[in-house]
Amino acid sequence: MLQHPTLSQYILDQERAVRGSGEFSQILLDIGVIGKVISREVNKAGLAGILGEAGTENSSGDSVKKLDVLANDLFVNYLSKTGHFAALASEEETDIVLVPNGEHAKYVIAFDPLDGSSNMDFNVSVGSIFSIHQRVTALGTPATLQDFLQPGSTQVAAGYILYGSSTMFVYTTGHGVDGFTLDPSVGEWLLSHPQMMIPEHCDVYSANEAYMYTWAEQDKTFLENFKRSNPKATSRHIGSLVADIHRNVLKGGIYFRPYDDATKHTAKLRLNYELKPLAMIVEQAGGATTDGQQSILNITPTELHQKGVMVAGNAAIVSTYKR
Ligand code: AHG
Ligand code: MN
Ligand code: MN
Repeated sequence: MLQHPTLSQYILDQERAVRGSGEFSQILLDIGVIGKVISREVNKAGLAGILGEAGTENSSGDSVKKLDVLANDLFVNYLSKTGHFAALASEEETDIVLVPNGEHAKYVIAFDPLDGSSNMDFNVSVGSIFSIHQRVTALGTPATLQDFLQPGSTQVAAGYILYGSSTMFVYTTGHGVDGFTLDPSVGEWLLSHPQMMIPEHCDVYSANEAYMYTWAEQDKTFLENFKRSNPKATSRHIGSLVADIHRNVLKGGIYFRPYDDATKHTAKLRLNYELKPLAMIVEQAGGATTDGQQSILNITPTELHQKGVMVAGNAAIVSTYKR
């Protein structure tokens, strides 16, 4: 029955091949456990009365859903007890969260516990995203904000869990991208998409074109040219970033999110929780990312909740986007 390796078999094989300490394997397995629990909660949300608003706003000004809170609490509580992290940062927390007795831990992790949560109430796919860095501050001292102000190029691992028609765990440690599908009957992640690579052809674009009237002229022109030059061009935009990126990685396509309002430089997506980790996935899958000037992975955040723009997907198309 188990024709596919389980997550733990696969990770342990990889770890043995590089003679690792095992710490990293345990981190990925821990994230896998969190993904299974959130998947269960998302699946029964309509019955458990946990859909809808929590009645508050987070530091980015988004209205917070009950499931955002539940997913955030789960990430914070579970990861604080693993011993692997000195500090955590979450889209739903105002400041970094220092882990009690975490001074000797080597890593920090940033996450978007539930991405696309405005789609949650309507049974549309949502996700969780994570980004792991080694600390830059000295071991034995408390972690600081500096540990989270690192460019995406220094991430040691990143990935997402997609709660869709099936639940998938997709991650990279810098050696390509592997995707696992949850078999809910046995509660195991099974390797279903080894070494995912973005296909060459690129017909799909994902953009929220409602903002087009306040886009910069060159952004309108870029998308116009994409549509005009490709007779097969078609639009797929879910509004759950994880799902939009996942589809583009599997099928080929570009994700297009310039400044929503070019004159005010209004951006929606958050560098630490969304852009950096998903950019690592896209680039490890053979694609490219840009803010119009450089790869998303080269941007060093100056603030914890910094926002930015991103064009991501097929390298040949992304390389033609300039700002
Ligand atoms: P979150 O639910 O974590 O706040 O993220 C929502 C993000 C992203 O998933 C999505 O692509 C984008 O916000 C949608 O924003 P717009 O409705 O402005 O396009
Ligand atoms: Mn999000
Ligand atoms: Mn979120």
